[in-house]
Amino acid sequence: MTTTETVDHNLSPLEFWAKPRQVHHETFKWLRENKPVSWHGPPEALDPNLDNAQGYWSVVKHADIREVSRNPQVFSSAEGVFLDDFPQLETMLSFIVTDAPRHTSFRNIISVAFTPKHIKKVEEDTRRTVREIIDHAAPLGEGDLCELITKEVPGRIFASFFGIADRDERQYVMDLSEQMGAWSDPEYKHIGSPLQVFADATSRLGEVALRHAKERQKKPTEDLMSWVSQAQYEGEKMTVEEVGVFFALLAGAANDTTRHSMAHVLALFDQHPDQLAYVFEDFDNRADDAVNECLRMEPPLMHFRRTAVSDYELGGETIKAGDKVVLWYISGNRDGEVFENPDTLDVTRAAKSNPHQAFGGGGPHYCLGNMLGKQMLKAEMWEIYTRMKDLKVGERTIMLSNFMNGVMKMPGTWTPEKR
Ligand code: HEM
Repeated sequence: MTTTETVDHNLSPLEFWAKPRQVHHETFKWLRENKPVSWHGPPEALDPNLDNAQGYWSVVKHADIREVSRNPQVFSSAEGVFLDDFPQLETMLSFIVTDAPRHTSFRNIISVAFTPKHIKKVEEDTRRTVREIIDHAAPLGEGDLCELITKEVPGRIFASFFGIADRDERQYVMDLSEQMGAWSDPEYKHIGSPLQVFADATSRLGEVALRHAKERQKKPTEDLMSWVSQAQYEGEKMTVEEVGVFFALLAGAANDTTRHSMAHVLALFDQHPDQLAYVFEDFDNRADDAVNECLRMEPPLMHFRRTAVSDYELGGETIKAGDKVVLWYISGNRDGEVFENPDTLDVTRAAKSNPHQAFGGGGPHYCLGNMLGKQMLKAEMWEIYTRMKDLKVGERTIMLSNFMNGVMKMPGTWTPEKR
């Protein structure tokens, strides 16, 4: 165990995460400039049942995050990927919490399912789903944009990944995905402690996923679950249980990330209408850069963690075997050595370069669904801004979390679309 002194600007207390995001950005700036690799005491847990006994290294510079992410031989994912010790969550995380060779074989099989033909099919479904959701929202003229749109879109698309056609079952899966992501939200207190809230959601979601995986393996249809069930790499297939766990993982990986990103996109363009107008002058060619720049400014996942399996020198510090190492993507994305005016939205940035780390720092665990995530965000941008004219958004309610950069509520007003 490392005996390094804990740095000022401690990221561990919950009180720190309850402060406005601006304070977090200032703290990360200080750390980047003064202590790019720093030791912090055990994180204060959201649930008293979590046993966060160990401190951790915080890695905040873009180049260091990249270096750690691309060295899985030293920095393992198999010991957990969150700042908090959360074994209940991690058993649900399928191959995110594995290293090579198991990780490589899983990832190769799943990648086989993401053929251009399948991506195209998902894109058509995504556009249709977004259109239907905006058909409902646009005539209203006001409402909570999270409830009406940002939560609804990935929830419905995610249900279609499962191939769930039944309305009630789709709603059931959407509610469970929501519960899984918002386990620390007081709204779910009636179920029990945050850990119980989470366990309840994941076990029920796991049951649905397993049942559908079994059905798809017998009788494949045209959905992501069937494609993954059928996918083979060098003669290997996933078992039906593995497919089930993978789809429960997607409830978090695909749903919450896209949901919170879209809320941030709406807030960022509310503050920068000139840049939105610029994007819409040539949407097909500029939307990709716009989405990437929003993800740089507001990555939905603030960190992922690794554990060192051997000693390693980084930023003038010796990381010892067994130490936890936390990669702060939210900080790497605003590193002034990589991004000019890092705290400013600039949708033209990509013309030079925009190597943001919202999807990770590269390496074997880089987000597998990055294309799908961006596809959903672009479809939402198009439909919202072409139909909900003069959209104005109010203050965001930010989730209390050291992991998810989540937006729970965001009121909006717009000129109602005539039915
Ligand atoms: C804006 C949307 C999204 C963001 C910002 C995001 C971000 C991330 C990040 C930061 C990681 C971890 C990278 C690492 O540790 O190096 C990750 C992993 C992953 N993401 Fe995403 N994600 C998004 C959408 C999606 C979608 C839509 C899917 C699926 C359809 C998806 C599937 C996955 C999977 C399966 C992994 C684990 C990959 C592995 O361990 O090999 N993500 N994502």
